[in-house]
Amino acid sequence: MKYMLRTHRLSDLSRKLVGERVVLCGWIHRRRDLGGLLLMDLRDHYGLVQLNFAQLLEDDKNTDMLAYCTREAVVRVWGEVILRPEEAVLSSMVTGEIELQVAKFEVLSGKSQGVLPFLFDAQADTKEELRLRYRYLDLRHQRLQKIFRQRSDAAARIRRFFEERDFLEVETPILYKSTPEGARDYLIPSRMHRNAMYALPQSPQTLKQLLMCAGFDRYYQITKSFRDEDLRADRQPEFTQVDMEASFVTEESIAHFALEFCQTFWQEPSLTMPQLSYRDAIRYFGSDKPDLRYGLPLLDVTSLFQGLAFPLTKSLLAQSQQASVVAIFVSDRVFSFSRKVADQVVSYVETLSADARVFHMKRVGHTLGGSLAKWFSEGEQTKLLDITKYGYEKIQLWLTCNNNKPQFDQEGDGFWFFVGTSSQAETTRLGDLLRRHLADISKVADPQGVALAWVNQFPLFEWDQTNNKLSSVHHPFTMPSLEDVQTILNLDPTTVTPESCSHFTSQCFDVVCNGHELSSGSIRIHRSDLQKKIFSLLGLSPEETEKKFGFFLEALSYGAPPHGGMAFGFDRMVMLLCGTQNLRDVVAFPKTTSGACLMSGAPQRIEGSELTDYGLAWLDQEVK
Ligand code: AMO
Repeated sequence: MKYMLRTHRLSDLSRKLVGERVVLCGWIHRRRDLGGLLLMDLRDHYGLVQLNFAQLLEDDKNTDMLAYCTREAVVRVWGEVILRPEEAVLSSMVTGEIELQVAKFEVLSGKSQGVLPFLFDAQADTKEELRLRYRYLDLRHQRLQKIFRQRSDAAARIRRFFEERDFLEVETPILYKSTPEGARDYLIPSRMHRNAMYALPQSPQTLKQLLMCAGFDRYYQITKSFRDEDLRADRQPEFTQVDMEASFVTEESIAHFALEFCQTFWQEPSLTMPQLSYRDAIRYFGSDKPDLRYGLPLLDVTSLFQGLAFPLTKSLLAQSQQASVVAIFVSDRVFSFSRKVADQVVSYVETLSADARVFHMKRVGHTLGGSLAKWFSEGEQTKLLDITKYGYEKIQLWLTCNNNKPQFDQEGDGFWFFVGTSSQAETTRLGDLLRRHLADISKVADPQGVALAWVNQFPLFEWDQTNNKLSSVHHPFTMPSLEDVQTILNLDPTTVTPESCSHFTSQCFDVVCNGHELSSGSIRIHRSDLQKKIFSLLGLSPEETEKKFGFFLEALSYGAPPHGGMAFGFDRMVMLLCGTQNLRDVVAFPKTTSGACLMSGAPQRIEGSELTDYGLAWLDQEVK
């Protein structure tokens, strides 16, 4: 770029420039007054360099202005690049061999430098609320600057990836209508339509399907989506999706595409993406987004315990047909737990559920140790070993991450941890938490590892207990498995029960990575009769269906191609790419878990005509 205030960016400086006169700009990163010597580090987005003000100290008229060169002041400096004396060379610094002999300087930020609310080189020790309040200061930190460069580079790679495959980038509206993705909508009142509101899209789902109806064949967009939902560590109320859709595709073609996409994103052509059915994911890992960097599968030992007079589970298993027991075996070769740590693990799981039965047993060689062993015959002990062996053989298929250590998991001495509850769903839930806790404390997951999986064959519906009706597991536009389509078309919506619909599966799929859901997608319903039937099974009356989706059903009736697609959560992917646990680290101006922006104070109460122009009033005010 020409005609800049500076001649070089700081990363351009090296010993090659020694003897040259340069002009530099940046922030004062550090200042050291050493008697006759005044040294400062200058920082810009690209790097750091040491400034030596020794020459200027000889002239008193500089002293005044130099007082304003405090930390974070913005300066412009003129000078010559010189070699540092040998004893002052700093090999840990990229520009550690050189410094700038400053001949002239200007404090661009003037004399009004405020007192910094925190020193961001102590970023890790500063409260997150304070960092978010002064996010523009927090973002100056090198760690975050690096994250945003990685994010920008990843977005550029993604765009190239789609362009190379002939995808068309199409922007879709933000002021739109409700798009059901399982959260509440953010609503936008309209001055011109006083009794109506727009909804911010929870995703461009219906719009991208309409683009397929319009014949665009392959669409993509890196776009914002908005959801008013309970926030968690990996959720923001507005987030970025890499959204795609294509016509005449199958699940296999999208899976192949998704793998290439991930390889491009991580710049890692050797990544693989094993397929795992929803059922197996739940059965062996207790979660539809299992972390496959490590083994530790859940082993269903219900049938083994059913035959035993074992006091800890006997009454539980007698109580309910739904009762179940799972075990996780941790070999000493993965992590050698002391008995004390094993007891702590049990206490941890006990705090998660009041009526779970949680216990552990030591395995020594091929037998059980400890006082509980007497309840198991030799045959039963062998059965437990067989179950463990079978479980580990089964999960080898899915463990692809280079540095995992599953091959050792089932062997040697170690501890079995057991969890039993009166319902299979609760046992699975606790089993998942136990598995993750064991992995956490044994640090068995490789922090650099990327373990992907394609999870599919999800149920089509789930039962919404609160409203006593069916709801979609993915979203209502998901195509059921082909063998279920005719049965579904014949269903009577007035007689649906949880049992009558629980066995339908869908053509829906997720990409998961290291315990996170990266992406969801599906083959879509492209026939209006089937789509209408799904809406009615989900409890929408014909009037509601017409009001919410009439335009969409109409579009399907004018010749819609079979189509499918998915959306990657870009922020989540960047979070994993950059090795941070906090989604807010990868969002420039994030919201807190209560959806507030601490920097700007949004959302804010609106008063007076700003509100009444929309025909709105607060409930505690009278509507005019
Ligand atoms: P889904 O609702 O699963 O699917 O969203 C797609 C992906 O977006 C990410 N994601 C989020 N990231 C941050 N904060 C959030 N609040 C948040 N919610 C979701 C996840 C998720 O996998 N229209 C469908 C996709 C499709 O069928 O094509 C959809 O939006 O990584």
